[in-house]
Amino acid sequence: MFKKFSHGMIERNILLLGVLTLITISIGGLAQVVPLFTIESTIERVQGVRPYTPLELMGRNIYVREGCYACHSQMIRPFRDEAERYGHFSLAAESMYDRPFQWGSKRTGPDLARVGGKYSDDWQAQHLRNPRALVPESIMPPYSFLDRPLDYRNIQQHLRAQRALGVPYSDEMIANARADLETQARPEADGTGFSARYARARQGAFDGNPGVVTEMDALVAYMQMLGTLVDFRDVTPEQLRQQ
Ligand code: HEC
Repeated sequence: MFKKFSHGMIERNILLLGVLTLITISIGGLAQVVPLFTIESTIERVQGVRPYTPLELMGRNIYVREGCYACHSQMIRPFRDEAERYGHFSLAAESMYDRPFQWGSKRTGPDLARVGGKYSDDWQAQHLRNPRALVPESIMPPYSFLDRPLDYRNIQQHLRAQRALGVPYSDEMIANARADLETQARPEADGTGFSARYARARQGAFDGNPGVVTEMDALVAYMQMLGTLVDFRDVTPEQLRQQ
């Protein structure tokens, strides 16, 4: 039987060669893919990482809409020069709720993965309105039009869409999405429920004007939380090795 089913025969029969090649490759593929289904996540979870607040999520949408990623990456690589300039290298867990992710490799401007808290809200808003007023040699375009009111009528749908993609927004978070968005943009509003739902989220008049919720509020709120969720004193060496 083996004589009949020889190598020469396989090589001369294109259909048989195709089928056998497919089977062989499939075995290799399955060996790689199947184990991934048996583990809950390929990302090691890290304490502190939470879904974006509704205001931050809207800010993130503006960031994507305006194409900020064309000039800014959000991924600090594990090299000494990067760590000295930007801080601790980025962990996979820090962008686990990013749909789509903003890693990037194009840095016309600096990496923004840990820009949160680096400047005041006022600096961020002024810089977005007119970068050259603060950094004279900047080539970043001005975004003063972001001082217009934020359209957040469908904020609940935004959270639901993220949940459909796997971001763990609870029913409570979705039900309160609108109120939470407004609470975060108004420093005097009672933020008890809001901060219980979103740890380490800060309320503020991000654009300097607490009266109207603007696109600027959303974008600055997003900038100011970037890279601030993980307290690196909580991260174990094992977790770092698995990143
Ligand atoms: C054409 C490229 C370009 C685009 C588009 C761009 N930036 Fe910039 N950005 C820069 C450059 C260059 C700098 C460094 C000079 C400066 O601070 O203005 C910078 C600096 C920054 C900084 C300060 C970073 C730091 O660590 O000092 C922030 C924050 C920022 N940009 C946010 C944004 C946001 C948000 C958007 C989208 C609304 C955006 N940028 C779009 C080029 C760009």
